[in-house]
Amino acid sequence: MDRIRIVGGNKLNGQIPISGAKNAALPLMIASLLTPDRLTLKNVPNLADVNLLARILRNHGLDHQVDGKRPGPAAHIGETYHFDARDIVDTTAPYELVSRMRASFWVLGPLLARMHQARVSLPGGCAIGTRPVDLHLMGLKRLGAEIDIDAGYVVAKAPGGLIGNRITFPKVSVGATHNVLMAATLAKGETVIENAAREPEIGDVADCLNKMGARIEGIGSSTLHVQGVDRLEGAVHSVLPDRIETGTFAMAVAATGGDVELVGARRDLLAAAFDVIEQAGAEVSNTATGIRVRRNGGGIQPVSVETQPFPGFPTDLQAQLMGLMATADGTSVIRETIFENRFMHVQELARFGADIQLNGDTATVRGVKELRGAPVMATDLRASVSLAIGALVADGETMINRVYHLDRGFEKLEEKLSNCGAEIERVSDE
Ligand code: UD1
Repeated sequence: MDRIRIVGGNKLNGQIPISGAKNAALPLMIASLLTPDRLTLKNVPNLADVNLLARILRNHGLDHQVDGKRPGPAAHIGETYHFDARDIVDTTAPYELVSRMRASFWVLGPLLARMHQARVSLPGGCAIGTRPVDLHLMGLKRLGAEIDIDAGYVVAKAPGGLIGNRITFPKVSVGATHNVLMAATLAKGETVIENAAREPEIGDVADCLNKMGARIEGIGSSTLHVQGVDRLEGAVHSVLPDRIETGTFAMAVAATGGDVELVGARRDLLAAAFDVIEQAGAEVSNTATGIRVRRNGGGIQPVSVETQPFPGFPTDLQAQLMGLMATADGTSVIRETIFENRFMHVQELARFGADIQLNGDTATVRGVKELRGAPVMATDLRASVSLAIGALVADGETMINRVYHLDRGFEKLEEKLSNCGAEIERVSDE
């Protein structure tokens, strides 16, 4: 099992290319189930989750091709994937695959819309909370699906096809919005989705669906209007930049000090987090090709933040912010409102000497003068990268174990950081 070794203390200076967003690439790939024509996706990040989802989609009968190397800085221009779902031969998504990646549950809506039936394993538990799927099922039932749970599987049928309806989500859910939005594109008549998630990745998927012939209005707002169509067509779409990767590297620079351009990054995708990074004492400015983050001199100022659905501060940056605040000049308060158990990084950050008290959904972080390197364990995707931030600041050597969590969502992390002066390497055990 691979590990990552970091010797902390270096400032970060240079350029970091931002990859395509994992959380957009996954639903975009799933959208290919909606059409018998070819969907081409550009700027797809090379990640373990992307490869696993491609395997799940092939199991349904999709053909999948990746373009070969191209001239230029190929390592950072993202890959181009082609998906052809001419014949869907299997409408079952098995437990062995769905249990390894929660987003694969989102095949349910598209399969139901196009094939009028689907059998998809319940995703099961997850380290960061219970993460139920009741909102997904409620939305699809409102579109006329008959749904049973049988032996751990959602068995869904819509013999005459889905029928448009008004769906009001009682709580904002990214996944339920994706699932129902994709299903509604092929439903008969109009669907209105109220209290829809507004995350930029939903807008990216909706833009792609419209290129495929869908009729979605209200993109970017919390009310989506969808006029169903009989058939979707192929399209070419480029995945938007990863705002969570952007925020992670911005916080890493704010933590270590230095001067880095995040090439391809967009501030409008992450305004709330950049406001917090500025409050913390880093300078943030737009460049012709991305965003520049600098902190030269001056300490890290403490902040009070609570996670919220977009456009609020994202839960996917909460752990990284805690890594940054661990050495702030004062006490920060960080409240997690989206997932009830997303604090596994706290005990690992404590191994560096961080002073963090947990009380229910709120963490109080008392900044310490310095962190010290230590062996730590990655527990989930975003938590693990907060350990990398802690390690970059810490005095001495850190070994991060179980880095497969990082490989699910961060492309070439070691290369991107070492190119900016970090002492970081991957250690592969025989
Ligand atoms: C997506 C993101 C994940 C991010 C999360 C919140 C992807 C691949 N994953 O996850 O990185 O952390 O949004 O921004 O895009 N809930 C219910 N019932 C449901 C569905 C959700 O109660 O049927 C609850 C969840 O338990 C959670 C909250 O709603 O408390 C938000 O979850 P949701 O937005 O659905 O997260 P995901 O789509 O799983």
